[in-house]
Amino acid sequence: MHEFMLLLGRNKSMLLKRGKVHTTSVGKVDLREVEYGDVVEVGGEKYVLVEPTLADIMKKLRRGAQIVMPKDAAQIVAITGATKGWRCLDAGSGSGFLAIFLGNVVGGRGRVYTYEKREDFYRIAKRNIERCGLEMVVRIKNQDVRNFRERNLDLITFDMKNSHELVGKARKRLKPGGWLVIYSPHIEAQIMARKEMEKEGMHIHSTLEVIQRVWKSGFGYTHPEPSGILHTGFLTFARRVL
Ligand SMILES: C[S@@+](CC[C@H](N)C(=O)[O-])C[C@H]1O[C@@H](n2cnc3c(N)ncnc32)[C@H](O)[C@@H]1O
Repeated sequence: MHEFMLLLGRNKSMLLKRGKVHTTSVGKVDLREVEYGDVVEVGGEKYVLVEPTLADIMKKLRRGAQIVMPKDAAQIVAITGATKGWRCLDAGSGSGFLAIFLGNVVGGRGRVYTYEKREDFYRIAKRNIERCGLEMVVRIKNQDVRNFRERNLDLITFDMKNSHELVGKARKRLKPGGWLVIYSPHIEAQIMARKEMEKEGMHIHSTLEVIQRVWKSGFGYTHPEPSGILHTGFLTFARRVL
């Protein structure tokens, strides 16, 4: 059973720790003797108590470094076909978001080895992995990824400066057909990464940017939200041939 409960109302949702009394912006909530499916009334609104999904919990995680957002992480899974049992390597861990997303996909028999060289970010990512209950699947190391030792990998994801310098080593550590995905915030970094992939004789699948526009939806004035994050990064996908 999870340490949190999601209170889902028509206009608002709240993720709160079970077994406690909380003072929220809409009123007091007593979660000491409740179960999933119960309905509580707070500030005149009814909320059903549901088990939070990983996505609900991730919204509450601490962020240190800039994260890979769900729209980009989902595309990595969609294109590579990542699935249960895969062995993955990820760096840098940053806040652990991409590693957690992948850990949830590869499941109990899969592994995500994630490397973070900064101790402060390592601590944040480790705590985030634990809060998601994925510490058995996502193995975090407070080390420079340049020294990684894992082999026979299905997927390697790099989201850090100078990722292109590791393309050669990454190719050798992938299974034939295994995927290397490099996330580059700037096109200059993407070009360097792609050049190395070509030099290594990898099969280049694609370079793409995921553009997600949220709409404000209400009868009579429906339109795209006028602000929000438009650019995150470029994803380059390649597979080991030889
Ligand atoms: C943009 S963040 C990664 C965010 C992460 N993908 C997420 O979704 O939360 C980049 C991280 O890479 C780390 N990093 C940079 N070079 C590294 C290296 N050689 N080995 C391990 N970590 C490294 C940085 O300290 C930083 O925390």
